[in-house]
Amino acid sequence: MPDIINLGFLGCGNIGGGVYHLLMDMHDEILKRQNIDIRIKRALVKSIAEARNDVPTAIMTENADDVLTDPDIQIVCEFMGGEQPAASFMQRALANGKTVVTANKMALALNWSALAATAKSTNAGLYYEASVGGVIPVIRSLTVSLDADEIDEVMGIVNGTTNYILTQMAQKGSSYGDVLAEAQRLGLAEPNPAADVEGYDAAYKLSILSSIAFHTHVPYAKIHREGITGVSPEDITYGREMGYTLKLLAIGKRTGDSIEVRVHPTFLPNDHSLARVDGTLNAIFNHGKYCQDMMLEGRGAGDKPTASAICGDILYAAKHLSMPLAPSFNNTDEPEAHISFTDNWICRYFIRLDAADTPGVLSSVASAFAARSISIASILQRPSENGLAQIILITHEANEQSVQDALSSLDPATVQVKSMIRVEA
Ligand SMILES: NC(=O)c1ccc[n+]([C@@H]2O[C@H](COP(=O)([O-])OP(=O)(O)OC[C@H]3O[C@@H](n4cnc5c(N)ncnc54)[C@H](OP(=O)(O)O)[C@@H]3O)[C@@H](O)[C@H]2O)c1
Repeated sequence: MPDIINLGFLGCGNIGGGVYHLLMDMHDEILKRQNIDIRIKRALVKSIAEARNDVPTAIMTENADDVLTDPDIQIVCEFMGGEQPAASFMQRALANGKTVVTANKMALALNWSALAATAKSTNAGLYYEASVGGVIPVIRSLTVSLDADEIDEVMGIVNGTTNYILTQMAQKGSSYGDVLAEAQRLGLAEPNPAADVEGYDAAYKLSILSSIAFHTHVPYAKIHREGITGVSPEDITYGREMGYTLKLLAIGKRTGDSIEVRVHPTFLPNDHSLARVDGTLNAIFNHGKYCQDMMLEGRGAGDKPTASAICGDILYAAKHLSMPLAPSFNNTDEPEAHISFTDNWICRYFIRLDAADTPGVLSSVASAFAARSISIASILQRPSENGLAQIILITHEANEQSVQDALSSLDPATVQVKSMIRVEA
């Protein structure tokens, strides 16, 4: 006799519909391969009257209790989005001993410790492969395959919308605003794009990734976040001239008990594996003591790729209902006492300045840097409008605070800082 697994969906929009159709399409194959009969019993939506995706309205409900308290439902799949009520619904499902599978990075990143504690107390599973990098199996890689290693760096392109915008800006030389408008027309950016372009979405994902990679809870609040709204085509062009490609990166590094976590536009050498990841693709690059450099790449969004990752979680959960997989770290709400978070990281810097074209100005810039032991690796000078000269320089490795100090010490009457972009090797 096959094992019957009843699912309840919280949300049945783009992703819920994708999961429904994958499970219908693959039902008999899964039954044959794994002897598991997956059934979708109920799906919560806001409004049945506006139901989409050819999912039968007979399974739909507007009452969350139909999913959360049904004793036949073993696995609750959350595809609602947003922090609440998704997080409290997941809490209730876990408290009722139901396994939860979610694609919701925001609800997870902001409520992870509480959800993990409830899951532990009821021996319920909590799975979230699709919450970072869509179909890319990065959560399973870090929690299972690399569990014995010591990962000291995770660096990812984890937001397809911003990667599409930066790729188009680089390829067409268009402004941020023009490319954003086109992405919105194509449905690749939301009407309110803030979650993507301001880096919130990437920061939620980095909280999840770096916690798993570094075996300690890295709260979302510890992440330094900058988006791409201030990126100009000139920066991208000059960067390329100097051998670099611009990406919005989520970066986590651990050195001993010190962790740095940051999301910001970043120049990478053109030959870095992440530099060629274009358009809506996502990729995550890890470095570990034993695994050394490795990269995973694939579709970070879309109903089909995301459904593939979610259904992988569902099948794993179905086979391990009484022995769920949990990451090997103490998921405390507050960071562990021995861990510190630094905002004075070391990297290189791309700096673009508009300077008065008069004697002594360039040497005042050089002195501001030299006084803080920041050395310059390469420099370009170009004429600008209004009789100003554009100076574009890349520093050798320097610490963040020294660079910020040097830039704020420049006399704005003669030198204006147009951009400062971090450069990773
Ligand atoms: N889209 C992607 O490519 C992608 C990729 C990876 C992860 N994710 C994550 O997957 C989740 C779902 O995304 P999506 O694109 O499928 O969103 P969506 O199309 O907007 O679907 C959301 C679903 O949840 C329902 N819902 C929302 N709030 C509700 C409430 N308060 N009560 C009852 N039902 C509610 C909606 O009901 P109605 O149908 O009645 O409106 C809808 O069925 C999000 O967490 C997202 O971050 C998405």
